[in-house]
Amino acid sequence: MNSGQGTPVSASRARLAHVMQITDTNIHGNIHGGVIMKLVDEAAGACAQRHCRGGRAVTVAMDEMVLSVPVHVGDLVTAYASVNGTGKTSMEIGVRVTAERFDGSVTAPEHVASAYLVFVGIDENQRPMAVPAVIPETDEDRRRNTEADIRRQSRLDHRAAIEASRQLR
Ligand SMILES: CC(C)(COP(=O)(O)OP(=O)(O)OC[C@H]1O[C@@H](n2cnc3c(N)ncnc32)[C@H](O)[C@@H]1OP(=O)(O)O)[C@@H](O)C(=O)NCCC(=O)NCCS
Repeated sequence: MNSGQGTPVSASRARLAHVMQITDTNIHGNIHGGVIMKLVDEAAGACAQRHCRGGRAVTVAMDEMVLSVPVHVGDLVTAYASVNGTGKTSMEIGVRVTAERFDGSVTAPEHVASAYLVFVGIDENQRPMAVPAVIPETDEDRRRNTEADIRRQSRLDHRAAIEASRQLR
């Protein structure tokens, strides 16, 4: 089903960090959710490209992005991305985002957001191509892999239901 021998989760983990700036704020003075989403998409993209061994991969969907607490100017925000699961041409990338506060209120990095994205490997004609199977290595990788399968099935069911509904129109 997948190309090659498979790629271990540890081979494609990616980390991307950014110190939040005044230009990253929304009208309320907090960091704009879209800034966090961009960082998440970029970290997931780097992870997907690594998993595809340098091949091209594009974002096809982002779901379940939860922003649990506000982020502020000066916070060092880091996105950690890893491949949770693979289909034939698609990969689910999970991203965990933390913020290290520089206002003295919290010392350890705080979990501020989580997201799941689907990337698809594409060929030179922009058409989907098979990606390596992911190889979970730790108990946490295996838990994420099992949960990715559940989300994948749910996405497929959702897509099929929408398509079926359109056929009826
Ligand atoms: C990625 C793209 C080529 C896929 O084309 P497509 O015609 O949907 O391809 P398919 O129906 O064959 O699906 C390909 C894979 O994507 C998955 N997929 C497609 N739409 C999906 C959706 N809405 N949610 C989750 N997965 C989806 C399919 O399940 C399939 O996975 P699998 O091979 O592992 O089973 C096309 O959707 C595209 O070009 N999208 C724009 C991507 C982009 O520009 N992103 C922003 C810049 S990076």
